Amino acid sequence: MMDCTDRHFRMIMRQVSRRALLYTEMVVAQALHHGRRDRLLDFDPAEHPLALQVGGDDPVLLAEAARLAHDWGYDEINLNVGCPSPRVQQGNFGACLMADPARVARCIAAMAAAAPLPVTVKHRIGIDDHDSYAELLAFVDTVAAAGAVRFAVHARKAWLQGLDPRQNRTIPPLRYDLVQALKRDRPQLTVELNGGLETLAACHEALVGVDGVMVGRAAYHHPLRWAAVDREVFGAAPATNDGDDGDTIRPSTVIRGLLDYSDTWCRGGGRLWAIARHLVHLVEGVAGARRWRQQLTRDACTTGAGPEVFEQAARQLEAHGH
Ligand SMILES: Cc1cc2nc3c(=O)[nH]c(=O)nc-3n(C[C@H](O)[C@H](O)[C@H](O)COP(=O)(O)O)c2cc1C
Repeated sequence: MMDCTDRHFRMIMRQVSRRALLYTEMVVAQALHHGRRDRLLDFDPAEHPLALQVGGDDPVLLAEAARLAHDWGYDEINLNVGCPSPRVQQGNFGACLMADPARVARCIAAMAAAAPLPVTVKHRIGIDDHDSYAELLAFVDTVAAAGAVRFAVHARKAWLQGLDPRQNRTIPPLRYDLVQALKRDRPQLTVELNGGLETLAACHEALVGVDGVMVGRAAYHHPLRWAAVDREVFGAAPATNDGDDGDTIRPSTVIRGLLDYSDTWCRGGGRLWAIARHLVHLVEGVAGARRWRQQLTRDACTTGAGPEVFEQAARQLEAHGH
């Protein structure tokens, strides 16, 4: 998610789940060709398993992106065919590519040939008037034949004219039934459902009819809500365990888990706020949370702020049993 799932937020989520697949923000293939690759691609080994999501419509540039993803050590490369923003449409990528399955297939084939990485697709159930189930099936069939190994389907269509990106994440109704039908009719494909999943219970319910689920906003805004993912979904030991029930992770534990990371980041010239801005969602529903957030924001924005700010923030939480 743009402006959300950068490397720092992913490190925060790794204190919550060691197993869930994490995605980068969308990186435009053209920017990878021309831009600062280290800034766009660097990540911490602790972030694995990690998918690089790319945007583009040019098989040559996307093949280069797949090679870079492999060189950098990503576990997967994912093509964005779901973003409806006007800027992205202008570049002829994102959701508008759903109208051109043949082009998407060429892109996927080029990526699959360029690097030994799983190539996956994130897409909508339709766009504008191309929103029949038959068109969805035709899109998926064409792209699967080109080598895509998993389909993460945002279960609402996008209106490319008339709705802005935010409205396109809320106004078109969620149609889980279409994603479930896709899995039922194409059982050999790996189909993942995305959109509106707010809780682990909702994910379990959805997982009955599909192979996987993808959570966006609820993961960003409520990171600790997902503390039981490793145990419940992956049958693994929890990433961290602060409670008797095995599914509680305290916000202070997450922050302590970031001390070394933030130290390295700040010593390398990075600003603490780049990490801290994601931590404001960590503490919710407890007395004094607002004041804690305000202080963290103020302290982390000070020139020269370093991990001692996190140490202090963790201590304050611990003093109240959080
Ligand atoms: C701020 C923001 C940025 C997003 N950026 C991306 C993106 O870069 N790539 C992508 O595939 N989806 C992006 N999305 C869409 C989400 O991945 C997801 O498909 C959508 O929000 C619906 O799922 P949710 O209800 O779980 O959030 C973004 C969503 C938001 C709110």
